[in-house]
Amino acid sequence: MNPSKALWEKGDFTKIAAFMRQSGEAVVKSLGITTPLRVLDLGCGDGTTAVPLALLGTEVVGIDIAKNLVDAGNKRAVEAGLNRLTFQEGNASNLQGVSDHSFDLTLSIFGAMFAPKPFDVAKEMVRVTKPGGRIVMGNWIPNDPTSFVSQLLKISSSFLPPPPEGFISPMMWGVEANIIERFGQAGVPKEKISMVKDTFYFISDKSPTQFIGSFERFYGPTMNAVEAAEKSGKVEELHSQLLELAKAQNKSTDGGTSIPATFLRVTVNL
Ligand SMILES: C[S@@+](CC[C@H](N)C(=O)[O-])C[C@H]1O[C@@H](n2cnc3c(N)ncnc32)[C@H](O)[C@@H]1O
Repeated sequence: MNPSKALWEKGDFTKIAAFMRQSGEAVVKSLGITTPLRVLDLGCGDGTTAVPLALLGTEVVGIDIAKNLVDAGNKRAVEAGLNRLTFQEGNASNLQGVSDHSFDLTLSIFGAMFAPKPFDVAKEMVRVTKPGGRIVMGNWIPNDPTSFVSQLLKISSSFLPPPPEGFISPMMWGVEANIIERFGQAGVPKEKISMVKDTFYFISDKSPTQFIGSFERFYGPTMNAVEAAEKSGKVEELHSQLLELAKAQNKSTDGGTSIPATFLRVTVNL
């Protein structure tokens, strides 16, 4: 099986997405959509941004590599009566079957960054977006102590064996020079690319302990780290490092979770 598919189908990302709903809505609001558009949400999960996009009246296609998340997204669309929102399986590195220039907006919030072959991903996003349209990506930032998921993945991978040779970390999508190079190879001049740091919040009335528990039980990359740590007798060490991270970043004062996480927001105007 495709390793990305295996990784993301291993757990149940809907349990993490439950902490992302408010910020998903805020990201969509910040796009300033005023006219009916055709939107691709790439690496859409169960619809953190696709559902609020569809609620604006846009036609939305969500594409994700994980079947369980596509199914969960389609269930949410039906329950919300959103008949212009569909989710389908697909790979951001190769969007075969998706026509050239078929979307006004291609959005990917912490989605396409996780696909392998980043140059192919950039090329595919440019190919399926209409000339005059836009691509918006949200990417975690490596080595930024305020980029929560980047820190969580750094801790998780320190408990795992080194990745195979040639592996390109998803976090490299959080480096400005890489964005320019990747979209540059897809034919986009750097003048058409803008990048700003933005903040995404993980919010819930559940505690940071429950939040970290969700990553350990349902988030593929952290589940792998837990399995490796169990074998090496370091599971408590992993747990306490993750919990320390969440508690240090948590801004909630009522026992819940409110963790701000810095990300790189990339806008490409084609
Ligand atoms: C961190 S989750 C974010 C999901 C969603 N955008 C959200 O904000 O809730 C990353 C998503 O990217 C998807 N993904 C990973 N690799 C992919 C690939 N090669 N092609 C398409 N989707 C992929 C995963 O299945 C997962 O749903």
